[in-house]
Amino acid sequence: MTGSVFSRAAGRDLPVVAGGRGTELFDTAGRRYLDAAGGAIVVGIGHGSAEVADAIAAQARRVAYVHGSAFASTALEEYAETLGPLLPVDDPYIYPVSGGSEAVETALKVARAYHLARGEDRSVVIGRTGAYHGNTRGALSVSGRDGLRAPYLPWLGSAAHTTSPYEYRCPFPESHPNGCGARHAEALEQEIVAQGPQTVAAFIAEPIAGAALGACVPPDDYWPAISEVCRRYGVLLIADEVMTGFGRTGRWFGSDHWGVRPDLLVAAKGAASGYWPLGLTVCSGEVHDTVQRAGFVHGFTYSHHAVGAAAGLAVLNVLSRDGLVEAAAARGDQLGEELRGALSEHPHVGDIRGRGLLWAVELVADRETKAPFPRSERVAERIVAAAKERGVLLYHSTGCANGSEGDLLVFGPPLVITPAQVTEVTAGCATAIHEILAR
Ligand SMILES: Cc1ncc(COP(=O)(O)O)c(C=O)c1O
Repeated sequence: MTGSVFSRAAGRDLPVVAGGRGTELFDTAGRRYLDAAGGAIVVGIGHGSAEVADAIAAQARRVAYVHGSAFASTALEEYAETLGPLLPVDDPYIYPVSGGSEAVETALKVARAYHLARGEDRSVVIGRTGAYHGNTRGALSVSGRDGLRAPYLPWLGSAAHTTSPYEYRCPFPESHPNGCGARHAEALEQEIVAQGPQTVAAFIAEPIAGAALGACVPPDDYWPAISEVCRRYGVLLIADEVMTGFGRTGRWFGSDHWGVRPDLLVAAKGAASGYWPLGLTVCSGEVHDTVQRAGFVHGFTYSHHAVGAAAGLAVLNVLSRDGLVEAAAARGDQLGEELRGALSEHPHVGDIRGRGLLWAVELVADRETKAPFPRSERVAERIVAAAKERGVLLYHSTGCANGSEGDLLVFGPPLVITPAQVTEVTAGCATAIHEILAR
């Protein structure tokens, strides 16, 4: 008997990756791909960094593993010290884990532990409709993606949900575009009151909704109003920056666009740019001190990993030294402009939106009514496959319109993408759209 891979692409033959450099990937058949998605919006500093690989190797040679409860490590101390001033969190404490879902689970537990330590038995977490926070059970509970939740519903259910600032399909059309931030804040307040304010521990949301709803930038009055409601009810604000963190949206963190200061922040993806499975839960000094006083019942074998910290620090150094956050802002403006130039008149392009190097194109069957394509047509998947055939890698997401239907093409290239490559991405995507939707 031979062992086999439990594939994530059942029934499809995948090319075998041979190498990567910057924004490019190469397969063993010699084909070149321009990576406009960084995998799943993961790779910030680009593929093939010898500097990061060397930092990982050096730490692994020194010592690869110690248990987080037995030893501190210079790598981790140095990482926390360097990252701290960049985080939009007051007096930040960093709990490193192995990915986004683990970081979300940790943040949910910190939130509950915080209230328990203060003598308050709060357990409800409010998420948003259509949101994605991870596939482990706690993270999936607070997520609002019906398709991912459906098979596991008997295990989910302790979370509540409120509205998402999804401007293209705004739930408050009568206030749109001015004042819908206030309406979302009212909706959050109503949910807190309906749950019983003394039971609500936290509200979790992405500053800019990532792949699930397709790079939805909220109106400018959204975050100030939402933060005020959370503070008024003693509800901790958890910013999920797994996708938006580490320069992706043209600022170090998505929260920075509105000066949001969350009590907890979770990050992953860009934190180590794919070189190491690194996630981070960050909490404010006040939350940390309160939880530590009572004792935090939690932990993973691979949390506080010294090699992960070395990878994170090396990535951080590249982002800072090479000015990649600023580059994301500049290349992002170019990408948005070129996507609009190439696609805004297309009869099946409903919306083009984004910030920095996180963009999405929402495809619709009918622009007038915004009706989505039937899911059975698999429009997003077919366009992504056609673009891949042409050597351009895009990411897709489905279900944004009504939980099951809605086709999104998502763009999140490495932040090192050049102006000429941005143009190549737009051209490859436009050709794939024309090819699939002309039929
Ligand atoms: C916003 C957000 N939160 C959490 C996660 C979960 O992260 P991971 O897949 O590393 O567990 C993701 C993954 O796509 C994400 O986009």
